[in-house]
Order: sequence, then C-alpha cells, then structure tokens
Amino acid sequence: MSSKWILITTLCYLFINISKATPRNAILMLADDAGFEMRSYRNKICQAPNLDKLAKEGLIFNNAYTSVSSCSPSRSAILTGLPSHQNGMYGLHQGVHHFQSFDNVQSLPKLLKQNNIRTGIIGKKHVGPSEVFSFDYSQTEENNSILQVGRNITKIKLLVREFLAESRRTNQSFFLYVAFHDPHRCGHTNPEYGNFCEKFGNGDVGMGTIPDWSPIYYQWEQVQLPYFVQDTEAARRDIAAQYTTISRLDQGVGLVLKELEDVGLKDDTLVIYTSDNGIPFPNGRTNLYDPGMAEPMIISSPYHKDRRNQVTYSMTSLLDIAPTLLDWFNVSYQADPYNYDTHEIKLTGKSLLPLLVEEPVEKDGIVFASQTHHEITMYYPMRDLLNRTRSNMPLRWTKSLNTYYNRPEWELYDLKYDPEELNNIINKSSSQPIFKELSMKLFDWQKVTNDPWICAPTGVLEPIDGDKNNLRCMSTDF
Ligand SMILES: *[C@@H]1O[C@H](CO)[C@@H](O)[C@H](O)[C@H]1NC(C)=O
Ligand SMILES: *[C@@H]1O[C@H](CO)[C@@H](O)[C@H](O)[C@H]1NC(C)=O
Ligand SMILES: *[C@@H]1O[C@H](CO)[C@@H](O)[C@H](O)[C@H]1NC(C)=O
Ligand SMILES: *[C@@H]1O[C@H](CO)[C@@H](O)[C@H](O)[C@H]1NC(C)=O
Ligand SMILES: *[C@@H]1O[C@H](CO)[C@@H](O)[C@H](O)[C@H]1NC(C)=O
Ligand SMILES: *[C@@H]1O[C@H](CO)[C@@H](O)[C@H](O)[C@H]1NC(C)=O
Repeated sequence: MSSKWILITTLCYLFINISKATPRNAILMLADDAGFEMRSYRNKICQAPNLDKLAKEGLIFNNAYTSVSSCSPSRSAILTGLPSHQNGMYGLHQGVHHFQSFDNVQSLPKLLKQNNIRTGIIGKKHVGPSEVFSFDYSQTEENNSILQVGRNITKIKLLVREFLAESRRTNQSFFLYVAFHDPHRCGHTNPEYGNFCEKFGNGDVGMGTIPDWSPIYYQWEQVQLPYFVQDTEAARRDIAAQYTTISRLDQGVGLVLKELEDVGLKDDTLVIYTSDNGIPFPNGRTNLYDPGMAEPMIISSPYHKDRRNQVTYSMTSLLDIAPTLLDWFNVSYQADPYNYDTHEIKLTGKSLLPLLVEEPVEKDGIVFASQTHHEITMYYPMRDLLNRTRSNMPLRWTKSLNTYYNRPEWELYDLKYDPEELNNIINKSSSQPIFKELSMKLFDWQKVTNDPWICAPTGVLEPIDGDKNNLRCMSTDF
C-alpha cells in the first residue's frame, strides 16, 4: 500500500494522498449518517444482507470520502458536483439561519431534465433553493412527514413503484434519488421512538407497523465498537440502536431494488449506494477526521460486470458522483448560463465508470474536503463526553474535551502508521516536505473552487485597488 496522509487545518480543510455502453437509468440511494455497518465492510455483528448482496453485484469502494461531513452541505455537493464552499450551502438548510446554495448553481436534476431525463426524489431533501434542486417527481419532507418518506420503507416502496410505473409509461430514461433518513439519530425530534428511531414501526404498542420491516435487535455488550467511539455503556447502547435502524435501511434498499427488478428495468439501471457523512459520534460527523469523512460506497452497473464483488482502493470523493452520472447519461457539464460569477466553474471530480472496468495505477490519488458549519451554533456531537467531563469521570476515549474542542490550526497524520490519527506530526522536521506539497495542493484547489475562506483564519480576500479580478489575502491583524 502506498502512503496515505491526512492534513487538517483549523477551518478543517483536508487532504488525503493517496467502455461506454448505452446507459439508460440511474438510482442513487443515499443513507443518512450511515457508516460501515455491514459484513462487506468487515462488520461481523450488524446484519445488512441486502447491502451485502448489492456489494456482490457491484464494486466496493474502500477509499470513498465525503467532501464535507455535514448533511445539507454534503447533499448539495453530491447534487451539484461542487464543494459546499463553492455552491453556497455552508450549513444545514433548515431553521432561521437559512443556509442554501446560490440561486444559479447548476445541478444534476436541472442538467438531466434539460436532456430529457426524468428526475425523481423520494425521501430527505434538505437542500434549497427549489429552483436549483427541482425534480420532476418529488415526495420529500417538504410535503410529507420525514418519518414516512425517509424511514417507512413500505411507504418508500410504494412511492418508488409509482415513480417507476410513470417512467415505464413515458418510456423515458430516469434518474431517481432515494434519500433514506435512516440511520440518522432522532432523540432530539422523536424521543418516543428511541435515539435512532429504532422503534418506529416495529409493531410494539404505540409504535405503528411497517409491514415490510423485520427489525433485528442487538445486545449493547456485543456491538462492534468503532475504534473512535468511547467505550461506555451509553455509547454502546447507541450503536446497538443504530444497528437496528440499519436493518430498516438495509431492507429498504432491498425493496427499492426489487421494485426495479419487477418492472424489468434492472438491466438498464446504474445503482449507487453511499452515505452523506460520518456516523454521529465524536470524531465522526462534522469532523474532517477519517471517521467523519470515510463513506461506504457501492456501484453496480448492468453494463460493467468485470469487477463485480471486487474492491477498489482508488481515492474517491462524493464530488465524483455528479461527473459519474453525467458520464452515464452522456451529458456534458455546463455551468448555469445565468451564473453571476465571472469565474469559470468546472467540476473538480471525475467519473467513476472507468473504475468499473479496471483498477487504475494511482500514484498520488487525492481527495479534498472543506467543513464550514453544521448549524451555526452546533459544532460537535459529544453529549456523553460533556457529562463525563463535568462529573470528572474518565472519558474512556483518546482525547479530552479540551483537545477535541481546541484544535491546532494544522494537523497532519500518516494514516499508514497511525490509522487512528493520534499523533499529529505537523511539526516534525521530516514532515515538512509532505506538508509543503499538500498545503500547496490544497491552496490550488481552494483557488480553483473559488473558496471564500481561502485566506482564513488570519486574513480576508480583498481586491487590490478595487480590481475584482486581482485578489489578494489581506491580514486581519492590524
Ligand atoms: C408533494 O409535492 C409534489 C409536487 O412537488 C406532488 O406531486 C406530490 O403529490 C406532493 N405530495 C403530497 C403528499 O402532497
Ligand atoms: C421505448 O424506447 C425504446 C428505446 O428507445 C424503443 O425501442 C421502444 O419502442 C419504446 N417503446 C415505446 C412504447 O415507446
Ligand atoms: C408505513 O406506510 C404504510 C403504507 O403507507 C402504512 O400502512 C403504515 O401504517 C406506515 N407505518 C407507520 C409506522 O407509519
Ligand atoms: C454522447 O453525446 C455526444 C454529443 O453530445 C454524441 O456525439 C455521442 O454519440 C454520444 N454517445 C453516446 C454513446 O450516446
Ligand atoms: C447526562 O447527564 C444528565 C444529567 O445528569 C442525565 O440526565 C443524562 O442521562 C446523562 N446522559 C448520559 C448519556 O449519560
Ligand atoms: C507547530 O508549531 C507551530 C509554530 O511553532 C505552533 O503554533 C503549533 O502549535 C505547533 N503545532 C503542534 C501540533 O504542536
């Protein structure tokens, strides 16, 4: 294995070193905060047979990373192919802070629609404005209960059936985006259903029934605790609940694929499965550490059978999804002609379809990520740590609350020797060449993607002599 580095700065910028047939349809299935809870990714406890089956029929990605570890920013990046700092969705879409992408960003649904491909969204949308993310068929939390369209897999099955029947009737190619709300936490919105909504629809008194779901239950002592999660009973109980919710997601994936098969479209449809960001535990979601960024990804293509049930180690970004789908539909990217921005907007991702043919010889595979906000006031999921810190109990974790909150401006980890990112080697003299190389590449990417935070944290980008095409970092220390 070649070297693999991770470099993080305070604003959480990150770096990691690292045959065309006639396509018709595509389904992108997105999980909400899912990780690697399946046998295909070596979790021996959590059962997800439908995902494992899809993995057998596809290529499994071992180095797929989100471009931002937060829900709406990640979804906007998936659907526009542009990182959140470029598309404008700097934080979560809901609430008074009103984060949304710019009005005139180009998006997959817009581009595909222009090319006569029918688009559909079922489940969690959580992005805006609606002009940018408009689908021909739309059943989302905007006019349904999120529990119904995001977690009730019987309901989801029926909506998928409706969408497919209509596509079949019009004989149109389609792109269907099924965004599950599982296995997201729900203790803050629906505590009656448990921390991960693991009881919703399980048939117990007051929980309702989801006819297509057979829940699978786990003992908290027996879960496979991820290395970055503190070893406490509370955390283990959360993981056990998350596993049960994964069983609903997994069976939902099975139902969607069954619908596709039933209408005879399986042999014309590209299927992608992934998740938006890391699992909601310390160092995970909202962090650019490996557990916050690493995503499960499976791609199954009816036209590419050579690498089925194989693994790719190619460095992959969720920013590659848009170019992949455009490639699949043979549609070329064009920035929105009404974009006010005079900069030339280009996608920095790449199509993943060549990976389905053969593993590339990759010398310096690299993915970039940026993290700006989750919600304006909400930074890290760390409830249990907070309790234990307050009551002076041992955290049973590798960091203290103080080191977790107050991070150095730059962090560099050599994942080959330090996969748990415990030893920040940014100041070692032997690290200086790689640090220099990576930080230059990062700066170049920030330039190409028009990053408004390019001069942060010590400066701001200002025009020189009022010339908007001649920008420079100006120090904020005066
Ligand atoms: C939600 O809105 C879409 C149009 O955007 C409409 O087709 C659909 O029927 C609506 N669903 C419900 C439950 O109102
Ligand atoms: C549907 O499209 C296919 C391929 O474009 C064509 O062969 C077929 O005749 C069409 N069927 C209908 C009902 O239009
Ligand atoms: C799930 O959806 C189905 C079909 O709409 C419905 O019959 C069932 O009651 C729903 N279950 C819950 C828990 O809401
Ligand atoms: C892809 O599109 C281009 C033009 O946009 C066309 O020339 C080419 O034939 C198309 N390829 C396929 C495989 O449909
Ligand atoms: C945290 O502390 C509060 C107040 O003492 C308690 O109610 C809560 O159950 C604790 N949470 C966990 C996860 O231990
Ligand atoms: C690395 O060195 C810089 C400059 O001396 C210092 O500000 C920073 O805190 C050091 N970082 C670590 C992780 O030791």
